[in-house]
Amino acid sequence: MILVTGGAGFIGANFILQWTAQSDEPIVNLDKLSYAGNLNNLLALEGDARHHFVHGDIADRGLLSALLASHRPRAVLHFAAESHVDRSIHGPGAFIDTNVNGTFALLETVLAHWSALPSPEQAAFRFLHVSTDEVFGSLVAGEAPFTERSAYAPNSPYSASKAAADHLVRAFGRTYGLPVLTVHSANNYGPMQFPEKLIPLFIANARGGMPLPLYGDGLQVRDWLHVIDHCAALRRVLEDGRPGEAYNIGGGNEHSNLEVAEALCTVLDELAPKEEGSYRSLIAFVADRPGHDRRYAIDAGKMRRELGWSPSRTFAGGIRDTVRWYLGNTAWVETVRSGAYRHWIERQYGPRSSGAAA
Ligand code: NAD
Ligand code: TYD
Repeated sequence: MILVTGGAGFIGANFILQWTAQSDEPIVNLDKLSYAGNLNNLLALEGDARHHFVHGDIADRGLLSALLASHRPRAVLHFAAESHVDRSIHGPGAFIDTNVNGTFALLETVLAHWSALPSPEQAAFRFLHVSTDEVFGSLVAGEAPFTERSAYAPNSPYSASKAAADHLVRAFGRTYGLPVLTVHSANNYGPMQFPEKLIPLFIANARGGMPLPLYGDGLQVRDWLHVIDHCAALRRVLEDGRPGEAYNIGGGNEHSNLEVAEALCTVLDELAPKEEGSYRSLIAFVADRPGHDRRYAIDAGKMRRELGWSPSRTFAGGIRDTVRWYLGNTAWVETVRSGAYRHWIERQYGPRSSGAAA
């Protein structure tokens, strides 16, 4: 038995689906179903006894203690978080609540449970913290990619809250001996990502004939990793990662946001052509994000050397499959683009001055 937090979100749900496709070991999935949590992501597991969903907050110590006592998981995989940088700019409080205080409550509760386990179970136990490369801040062009030894330099309220969580996780390992593992992943993409993030937002907007809003000059660079490769890496870290260690997980796919937008348009032009011409005409440059990190890049050498992991998906193939998934799952997209979603889009993009189309 493993306990997953945030398993109704993008990466957590992909992880659970991959896990159940490869293993019979059951999962308890604790998720508070924030705007980003969606049980439709796990419809394929309806009636499957291996998936036990629990609606609740990671900060609810009573609930968590009861779950740990009754299920005795061998590991906790901590995905639950507020995850969107732009939202953290508008309202950092929720990020401190969940990513910092929530992670702290989770750590204290897990520690109390772990401390009372018999020693063989204690030794086998793992707390795997899912963090981000954004805690390392921003790289300039030509600078070496982030390694596990890169200095912390978070620039957004989101990355600062994740950095704080990383430090707490590390401290619980060093001080109390809790067997913790931390992963720093690059930008993920793939099926079931909430359409506030670059790739699903641009696919949804393109299909709706709406502008594709690139912040600033659109030349910021991200290292794109298909979510199934991230999930496979997490399984490797869970099984063979060394407690107390951190692991960087990246796709080796550095692309500017403009390149990503153009790649999406090319695939859409082929798979869902529109009469008025290329989707590229929808690309629009808008006001930049405050504190916008210029470049992220990951050196995943430690994952390759120590755990034999490397990404299986090319960016071209992954983007194509992702566009296909969104085109084939319009009902999923429509459901998540609810009234609350429209309110967010209006708040985030309404006041942004839209520049000329590319
Ligand atoms: P997401 O926003 O899609 O999902 C987050 C999930 O956590 C949702 O299901 C939500 O309901 C749940 N949740 C939020 N607050 C909670 C709380 N207090 N208690 C219980 N559940 C709560 O996020 P994601 O993209 O799937 O990211 C998962 C993790 O991976 C996060 O920790 C994020 O920081 C990290 N990460 C994401 C990326 C990326 O590109 N998406 C990259 C690196 C790291
Ligand atoms: P995002 O998907 O929000 O991930 P992160 O900020 O965690 O890297 O954004 C990816 C990149 O795309 C980032 O440089 C910001 C940019 N971006 C836009 O240009 N326009 C948008 O509408 C969004 C959501 C993001």
